[in-house]
Amino acid sequence: MKPIQVGLLGIGTVGRGTFEVLMRNQEEIKRRAGRGIEIAMVADLDTARASQVVGHHAVVVSDAQAVIANPDIDIVIELIGGYGVAKQLVLAAIEAGKHVVTANKALLAVHGTEIFAAAHRRGVMICFEAAVAGGIPIIKALREGLTANRIEWIAGIINGTTNFILSEMRDKGLAFGDVLAQAQSLGYAEADPTFDIEGIDAAHKATIMSAIAYGIPVQFDKAYVEGISKLQAQDIRYAEQLGYRIKLLGIAKRVSSKGSREGVELRVHPCLVPTKRLIANVEGAMNAVMIQADAVGTTLYYGKGAGSEPTASAVIADLVDVTRLMTADPLNRVPHLAFQPDSMSDLPILSMDEVRTSYYLRLVVADEAGVLAKITGILAQADISIDAVLQRPGSESKQETDLIILTHNCLEAHMNKAMASIQGLESVLAPIVRIRKEELS
Ligand code: HSE
Repeated sequence: MKPIQVGLLGIGTVGRGTFEVLMRNQEEIKRRAGRGIEIAMVADLDTARASQVVGHHAVVVSDAQAVIANPDIDIVIELIGGYGVAKQLVLAAIEAGKHVVTANKALLAVHGTEIFAAAHRRGVMICFEAAVAGGIPIIKALREGLTANRIEWIAGIINGTTNFILSEMRDKGLAFGDVLAQAQSLGYAEADPTFDIEGIDAAHKATIMSAIAYGIPVQFDKAYVEGISKLQAQDIRYAEQLGYRIKLLGIAKRVSSKGSREGVELRVHPCLVPTKRLIANVEGAMNAVMIQADAVGTTLYYGKGAGSEPTASAVIADLVDVTRLMTADPLNRVPHLAFQPDSMSDLPILSMDEVRTSYYLRLVVADEAGVLAKITGILAQADISIDAVLQRPGSESKQETDLIILTHNCLEAHMNKAMASIQGLESVLAPIVRIRKEELS
């Protein structure tokens, strides 16, 4: 049988990896897919670079539309990234009846509803294993492996750049800015690292996982997003003394307990995680996703979340899936978002005020009688129970001290109110540092 013909849009790091792994493992991949898979055409603005990678094996063009218009191409891989040109090309490929494989998390998190609807209408597949956690097959696990389960929560380290920065800050006691500069010079962090360090990239990925876990539309605009750029080295140190590591987590959690509105928490922010949890020990640029589900219990998925061949591994898995399923009736394929399109849920994404979690607070206070009593009094009035208190000499002077408070679970709205009152006390000398805490048990 003639090999499946693939058109590749954008041959940067991941495109090169995809081409090379497909060539290297072609026999094994063919035995699995039941057919050969060939990248027959590549579009890239840098045609010289593209030709260097593919040699005589594929036609190289600068115009992506030429790939989409080619009737011999069965699958289009989009590795351009971003929401602009990539969106137009993905929609054009769908309209042309091509199956699409993409690593573009931003595009799917923001415009997924439109793209999945178009693919459904046209009866083509849109596959995106590479969009979340790179080489970890987390989409497959959530959509198929865990299909028997009611997913309770997902918590993931899904951005390697920020995990690298946090690991270095903890390991070497360095400040955020110094580690970021080092990561940029080593090529780990982008020249413009905003999407990574401000949590946006992780929120794109968490948004996609929330949709698959709960059968809800992708709703990036409703995600709460807070990055790591304001994290201070002393909080990492204090957290360590209390038995916690600070990680940037992407969290999607179904909430249906008495007294709270039923819905989904969708949030990305730095988090204290008990050091004894496996996920707290995921260091450097590695990714990990922890899933709590009713039948299976806790599962943990670990691996490289970026890089040429790890991401190519996910792209090629999608190519094999499409190859196996392209002749199936579209209604018999695995649904894009795990649930049948007519069985999607309208479970709302909850506001942060409705989130219930525990907290780490660090206050710089005047070291004098009655200060602790005033603070704990305000917390008690807000129905916030204290779990632990730590007092350490402040760095600036002998008259002030660092007060670290760990709380039990409470409503974020209550915490905000209590923090505003505490901040108003004369003896509180600096803005309060608040980091959320997840026990993940
Ligand atoms: N920039 C991402 C990270 C990789 O640092 O994990 C691609 O999603």
